[in-house]
Amino acid sequence: MQPSLVQTMVRLIELKDLSTAAHTWRVVLYTRAMAEEAGLSHTLIERLTHAAALHDIGKLDIPDNVLQKPARLDPHEYDIIKQHAALGHTRLLELDDSDRIDLDLVRHHHERPDGLGYPDGLRGEQIPIAARHFGVIDTFDALTSVRPYRQQIGERAADEALELLAREAGTRYDAQSVDMFTRLYRTGRLEWILHHFNDAVPILPFDAIRQQSPWSPK
Ligand SMILES: [Fe+2]
Repeated sequence: MQPSLVQTMVRLIELKDLSTAAHTWRVVLYTRAMAEEAGLSHTLIERLTHAAALHDIGKLDIPDNVLQKPARLDPHEYDIIKQHAALGHTRLLELDDSDRIDLDLVRHHHERPDGLGYPDGLRGEQIPIAARHFGVIDTFDALTSVRPYRQQIGERAADEALELLAREAGTRYDAQSVDMFTRLYRTGRLEWILHHFNDAVPILPFDAIRQQSPWSPK
């Protein structure tokens, strides 16, 4: 998919659900950091960046009354939200996106190693590796970003998030991905991402984010 189309789709996702805007930028930056840590090529880092930016594209097809419901979702509504993974995959195909990383990450980022995830109930290494890594990143960000009901943010929240990921490594989250992310976090190289968008700093355009990232291939 062309970068300009990725940018347009990300903008549409943000307009649909404004609370996802900063989340998208943070998970893109965490994804780039992990990819760089793994020594991946420039091309792979760019492909993973696009896939991370598009991960919740399926939410475009979720009704607003469910997606933006201010109260707790009932089981039926939760089932509707869960459809976003498969719906996103279908939408990519409709947009003629044939990039395997985009398709795998969008469809499988909510699978679990114990087979209890969705949409396909894949287990362990059946889950594409990009989706396994991204599942850890997505959860870490959800647990460390500012939410109305959350008391803890910053390093305290990060420590708690890493503990939760470690407790559920191998069942809910891929153990190797948890390990890799935790080691990277402990180097201190991710803290600027953790804090940057939690401090009411305006969200930057997609291209600016890529240029600002120390992991952007030069
Ligand atoms: Fe998702």
